[in-house]
Amino acid sequence: MRQRRFGILMTTAVGLWLAAVTTTLDGFGQAAAAAKTTKGRVYTAAQATRGEALYMSLCVSCHPPATYTGAVFLTWQGRSLGELLDFLQEKMPKNDPGSLTAKEYADVMAYLLKLNKMPTGRVDLPADGKLLRAITIDILP
Ligand code: HEC
Repeated sequence: MRQRRFGILMTTAVGLWLAAVTTTLDGFGQAAAAAKTTKGRVYTAAQATRGEALYMSLCVSCHPPATYTGAVFLTWQGRSLGELLDFLQEKMPKNDPGSLTAKEYADVMAYLLKLNKMPTGRVDLPADGKLLRAITIDILP
């Protein structure tokens, strides 16, 4: 009887230990998931459509959309969307830098992601530099 109770105690102890280990591992999983890339469904199709309209009126005169796929855009590979936002806000459109709202710049970036065949999700790309800095540009196939 005593031995059996000891067995139950041990089983419980091992069970609790396993639960603790699993919870810790889950924690790591979530931390990994928080390190997002542009492949992680970070914008919506509707947002890219809004961005396309802006792009066609404000950017296309100097950059045909093809500029944003392949070799030229690859210079952004591994950098963050926050850096891209900074660049756009400071320099683009070249003839009137900073003339869009942060939300409009985010919409244009969503369109650039669409051009690069990034998967769409259910939440718009945020218009917040700090959040965008946590998303790495990964446009390699
Ligand atoms: C008047 C012409 C002009 C307009 C309009 C313009 N750009 Fe540019 N853009 C340039 C030039 C020239 C460069 C090369 C870098 C430089 O000189 O700063 C450039 C560079 C860039 C780059 C970095 C290089 C690359 O191709 O990856 C991005 C991204 C960009 N533009 C996005 C935009 C977006 C988005 C808009 C619209 C909101 C826009 N541009 C409007 C002229 C323009």
